[in-house]
Amino acid sequence: KKKITTKTFAEMKQAGEKVTMLTAYDFTTAGIIDSAGIDSILIGDSASNVMAGNANTLPISVDEMIYHARSVARAVNHALVVCDMPFGSYQISREEALRNACRMMKETGVDALKLEGGIEIIDTVKSLIDAGIPVHGHLGLTPQSVNKFGGYGIRAKEEAEAEKLISDAIALDKAGCFAIVLEKVPAKLAAEVTRQVKAVTIGIGAGAGCDGQVLVYADALGMTKGFKPKFLRHFAHVGEEMTKGVQSYVDAVKTGGYPSAEESY
Ligand code: KIV
Ligand code: NA
Repeated sequence: KKKITTKTFAEMKQAGEKVTMLTAYDFTTAGIIDSAGIDSILIGDSASNVMAGNANTLPISVDEMIYHARSVARAVNHALVVCDMPFGSYQISREEALRNACRMMKETGVDALKLEGGIEIIDTVKSLIDAGIPVHGHLGLTPQSVNKFGGYGIRAKEEAEAEKLISDAIALDKAGCFAIVLEKVPAKLAAEVTRQVKAVTIGIGAGAGCDGQVLVYADALGMTKGFKPKFLRHFAHVGEEMTKGVQSYVDAVKTGGYPSAEESY
């Protein structure tokens, strides 16, 4: 199968073919996800939660994102690889954003960068695109703003916020973003945005009207115990499988069943 590019994304939207995306943060997992036939892999700043155990995405650094992104990029042959710019790396100034973005592209080998926000970051988005960096937008529930929102509740339920989201999506689209994540917004609004923009819309908790879907792999595969929002489906029970595997290993070692003669030199 040939490598997916931002151009492939546009062609998929044209053809009405759904775009699939999952997160990954390490070489081994990214290799499994890529080989399974995913269209795109996101090194999300959700690595802050999923890999590091932080309560939110704010603490993760550019250096830490680069470490995860390099690990993923080494494993991927087919999927389009997108990396989140972390909190604080693109909000201070256009120059600082461009410096961090160039560093992330040079040092990781990812195909594109994702930034949270709309009109407030539009000049930064344009600068990155002018520099030749494909930009993936992210609107609705933008987790880097969790403290402003006061939680992870659904966004844009009210008219004013919904209208701002449509304006933001159109601005990102006009600036040249190739895709936009729509997180935890009403399905009807996400479908409306999808109709209005050339960019591929990737939904998470945004209904079936988006051009594609994204989930955090550990959530989708049932590894994150106790996290089960309404939008989430467990497509496997990897957490249970790992528990069984660990218990089986412990049991085999304790009882002297492992290693056997055949497993010894
Ligand atoms: O960081 C992340 O995992 C994300 C996706 C859930 C869209 O931004
Ligand atoms: Na993210």
